[in-house]
Amino acid sequence: MDLGIAGRRAIVCASSKGLGRGCAEALAREGVDVVINGRNEAEVMATAKHIRENSRVTVTPVVADVSTEKGREALLKACSEPDILINNAGGPDPNRNQREDSRMFKRFSTALVLGCAMFALAQPAQAQSFPTRPITIIVPFAAGGPTDIVARVIAVELSTSLGQQAVVENVVGAAGTVGMVRAARVAPDGHTLLLAGMSTMSFSPTIYPNLPVHSVNNLDPVGIVASAPIVLVVSKDLPVNDVKEFAAHAKAQGDKLVNGHAGVGSSSHLACALLNARLGIKPNVVPYKGTAPAMNDMIAGQVHYLCDQTTSVMAQVRAGGARALAVMADQRSDALPGIPTISEAGFAGAEMVLWNALFAPKGTPKAVIKQINAAISKGVDAPAAKKRFGDLGAAAPTAAQRSPEALRKILADDIEKWGKVIREAGIKPVN
Ligand code: MLT
Repeated sequence: MDLGIAGRRAIVCASSKGLGRGCAEALAREGVDVVINGRNEAEVMATAKHIRENSRVTVTPVVADVSTEKGREALLKACSEPDILINNAGGPDPNRNQREDSRMFKRFSTALVLGCAMFALAQPAQAQSFPTRPITIIVPFAAGGPTDIVARVIAVELSTSLGQQAVVENVVGAAGTVGMVRAARVAPDGHTLLLAGMSTMSFSPTIYPNLPVHSVNNLDPVGIVASAPIVLVVSKDLPVNDVKEFAAHAKAQGDKLVNGHAGVGSSSHLACALLNARLGIKPNVVPYKGTAPAMNDMIAGQVHYLCDQTTSVMAQVRAGGARALAVMADQRSDALPGIPTISEAGFAGAEMVLWNALFAPKGTPKAVIKQINAAISKGVDAPAAKKRFGDLGAAAPTAAQRSPEALRKILADDIEKWGKVIREAGIKPVN
């Protein structure tokens, strides 16, 4: 049962032990910030610590006896208006009712006043079925870019498979980490997921070491959706025909040449940083909130080149708005058969193939993850998704890559591999 209360704020009186504590813990699992209250300081602090360690919500401990006027005043002083008030103070009293609770806390005029037992009774129903409402897929980059394109393909398939609409929400900034942090903090019930690439998940522990959220510690892997190589694309009027001519032109132009990317720590940033170092060029490097807006500026003539995934460059390459010079992978792409690999073009050492995968906030029930993982597998094999990914030069995961455990291992390996590359490339951590 969806209680629809994630993101709210609750005061749970007498929540340091027993039923009240169970209540506060259950609310925190639902994504509700809790103010926990009790008379015994040690118990209140221990409960607060436990809830903090097992959820991502804000927990405010208040030591006060709310069966007294003074205690209520202390609690009122410490807390602003809550959305939910659960007053379990004073022990079980069959005659106490919601109206009395309301009177007791007159200032909480808009609070939904519940009894502990009532909330506790609602709990067993939660695990019943999934999904019970539309699913939100957080995409941490701008619409129209590679991450967004993959998300919209899989959203259609998940909607069909799971019987609830899957909706994409773009939460952009800081190379995808703004969306990652958001996704890690929602209720872990499978109704909000993150579709992120290897870049955000694998580069952020090295590039953003002080983030409050870690891609391994705060999110659960669900499944890889698709992988695609990076392509070097240049504006249609750039006077170059291959990578060698591009390198010579870039050297001559210096910082007059503009290299767009999707933010410090994105794949489009790191891939071009590796390429620029390999070619010995020093362009003017300009960050965007995704490669889609950078591509728009390339078409408008303000950006000269990008390192972007086939997924988002194919449309412009086919339409003649941009030209592909090299596929930055070990193998050519079936979508661009005439384009050499970067090694064939004479500059091995700047290869990057990215996976895009779904993640859920840490603590999402295993059964829910399994269900979404099965829906991804079914979805990427569906004829429409297969055709779309094929046209975009993206590959569905292999059988060995499909499980959440496989993704966990791939992520751990990539954090190590790319962490080393980032340090060697001299890309500085961002605080
Ligand atoms: C995007 O716009 O989705 C980004 O290009 C992804 C990335 O660079 O990692």
